[in-house]
Amino acid sequence: MSDFVSDFWAWYVGLIVIASVIGCLLLMKSQDVPTDEGKELDHRWDETLVELDNPLPKWWKGLFYATVVFAAGYFLLYPGVGSYAGLLKWTSVGQHTAELKQADERFGPVLAKYAGMRIEEVAVNPEAREMGKHLWLTYCTQCHGPDAGGNTGFPNLRDGDWIWGGSAEKIKETILGGRQAMMPAYGGQEAVIGGPKGAIEMSHYVMSLSGMKHDPALAAKAAPKFIQVCSACHGAEGKGNQALGSANLTDRYWLYAKGADAKSVQESIVETLVKGRGGKMPAQADQLGEAKVHLLAGYVYGLRSEGQPH
Ligand code: HEC
Ligand code: HEC
Repeated sequence: MSDFVSDFWAWYVGLIVIASVIGCLLLMKSQDVPTDEGKELDHRWDETLVELDNPLPKWWKGLFYATVVFAAGYFLLYPGVGSYAGLLKWTSVGQHTAELKQADERFGPVLAKYAGMRIEEVAVNPEAREMGKHLWLTYCTQCHGPDAGGNTGFPNLRDGDWIWGGSAEKIKETILGGRQAMMPAYGGQEAVIGGPKGAIEMSHYVMSLSGMKHDPALAAKAAPKFIQVCSACHGAEGKGNQALGSANLTDRYWLYAKGADAKSVQESIVETLVKGRGGKMPAQADQLGEAKVHLLAGYVYGLRSEGQPH
């Protein structure tokens, strides 16, 4: 509620909450009218179903009053009425912080044990892998997938093919500091790759690098441009440069293609050339701290040996 610039909305919400609870009570009270128990009213359905002028059942009313009492108790103890904080002073942030503190106290010593171990050893330690997996599922799945298999735009981390380097140290560096890739957009620079036609030609050349199906005549037209423009980052043979995170174009692994078929691949290459790409791996140093990143680096490093082809 502290986000509100004036007290007005706090009062507004608070009054609505209190008025609704009192309203429920009054509604219930208004049903407490004398009835003529057993008397048949004028409603009849399906010939035998009749409505009697009976009072509402006691247990039902009791339940209803109980909810009102519960609401009153709840609003006294917990925040809910405007900006009133509640007697227990509970906040979701407070609970979260307390849980984090508890977890740190519990896991701190274990984390410290692994922080002193080499990443290669962490990678094969079953207990460390179990913890790494928990961290993975909490912080990394949403982009890389639960099995680290990746997704369009988010790299597969279990295929042994590394954009930024697959040594234990490089992996840790990636997770700690994050990575920002920069592939220029050539869509607005007709002269550089020769406009939309040039982009198509270049896509055939790029596909030829990994031996995919392509048109050799179109590819040949783009070959000199590749050396002129692209080799600075991707290398003359298109093998990429891990210092820049520039893709290896010869391995048939396409970060941005929606499928492995030639059509999807070509479409994604043309889109890359026209719009550029800026894949970003967010830095985890601040959020997770060195010790947890160390465990994660071990977990990721060990993914390759989990029986997947690479
Ligand atoms: C300034 C360096 C630089 C230049 C010049 C450059 N690229 Fe790139 N390229 C990159 C980087 C970095 C990436 C990775 C982008 C990412 O991960 O988001 C990339 C990605 C790509 C991809 C996507 C690969 C995939 O897996 O989906 C293709 C295709 C590509 N570049 C082709 C080219 C071609 C063709 C040229 C020349 C016209 C070129 N690049 C010029 C740096 C460069
Ligand atoms: C918001 C999405 C996002 C989250 C969350 C995320 N990543 Fe990434 N990660 C990326 C992207 C995008 C790249 C590729 C960047 C590029 O284009 O080069 C990447 C790249 C990587 C790489 C480098 C892969 C290579 O081939 O060199 C590693 C390792 C990695 N992530 C590990 C992790 C771990 C561990 C976590 C959990 C702490 C994590 N990532 C969470 C988006 C994410």
